[in-house]
Amino acid sequence: MIGKILGTGSCVPAQSWDNNKLSEMVDTNDEWIRERTGIVTRHVAQSGESTAALAAGAARAALENAGLGAEALDLIIVATVSPENLVPCTACQVQEALGAGAATCFDLNGACTGFLLAMNTAQAYLAQGIYRTALIVGAECLSNLTDWKDRSTCILFGDGAGAAVLQAQPKGRYAQVTHSEGDRGAVLTCASRNRREFGETGGPETFLRMDGGEVFKFAVSRVPRVIAELLEKEAVALEEIDYFVLHQANARIVAAVAKRLGGDPERFPLNIAEYGNTSSASIPILLDELNRAGKLRRGMKLILAGFGGGLSYGASLIVW
Ligand code: ACO
Repeated sequence: MIGKILGTGSCVPAQSWDNNKLSEMVDTNDEWIRERTGIVTRHVAQSGESTAALAAGAARAALENAGLGAEALDLIIVATVSPENLVPCTACQVQEALGAGAATCFDLNGACTGFLLAMNTAQAYLAQGIYRTALIVGAECLSNLTDWKDRSTCILFGDGAGAAVLQAQPKGRYAQVTHSEGDRGAVLTCASRNRREFGETGGPETFLRMDGGEVFKFAVSRVPRVIAELLEKEAVALEEIDYFVLHQANARIVAAVAKRLGGDPERFPLNIAEYGNTSSASIPILLDELNRAGKLRRGMKLILAGFGGGLSYGASLIVW
């Protein structure tokens, strides 16, 4: 059995901050941010807009797009690094919001590769016949983890959620390759506020910190490599791929990956200008935009590719 995507959805906070707003907060400017990252605006959650609420919003849209009710779900996985609560998990909060009483629910932390890892996990359950219908969500309120005084990181991140509903079907195709390099984890970190040594308010370690240059080099070397590995494993030619749906961390990273692979840049869609880097939410938000714009037709081959904290990365081949 293969999990076929029946529907997609997304949900972002109402409020959007442009680069000029950030230039009032830190020493930066619109031109620098656009040129170095491709980001123009990012959605930022306000009070009442939680990771769980965004996840539930994306889930409702995906169920509606799939033409299914919440009672059909028997598995809910939420990929997130920015849950409001460690217990209960965000997936259980989504279950409650949807009324998906039959589902088994858990969260997964795979940073910016999280949505792909949720998809792989759901596919494994569906392939084994353990569950039939799965909801997978990537949801983040990175604004909670952002140091709004650090110009090297605060310009990058945004909040939002994307979701997909998968159902087991006898025919279809899904393949994936993933890797992790835990020995390089120090280049991208965010410590838990639970650590006793940080005291009650947390320390600077509890914000997202990164060596931007190292993350950049990691992404532009590993992403083309893992995509090539997947294509070779599946005996699929680069030219057969209709869209490469890459994690949106930086427009220059996506352009560099397209160039290294020798792929047509038009097949590497971008939406980072509006959303910034939404970590595990970026791939499903982009997938949902392509779906709703009518750009995906049955039989099309897509590569999804994620990379980030861990460090982890991976690519999946889906046939729409
Ligand atoms: N505004 C203006 N100037 C800035 C800013 C800013 N916001 N930030 C840094 N600068 C300055 C630096 O101080 C430096 O000045 P100097 O030359 O006088 O020292 C100069 O701009 C260049 O800085 P770099 O860090 O070399 O700029 P770079 O071109 O590498 O771009 C960036 C930085 C955008 C962070 C890039 O390295 C990047 O995108 N890296 C990957 C980030 C990423 O993907 N992270 C993963 C996120 S984690 C996750 O997805 C959850």
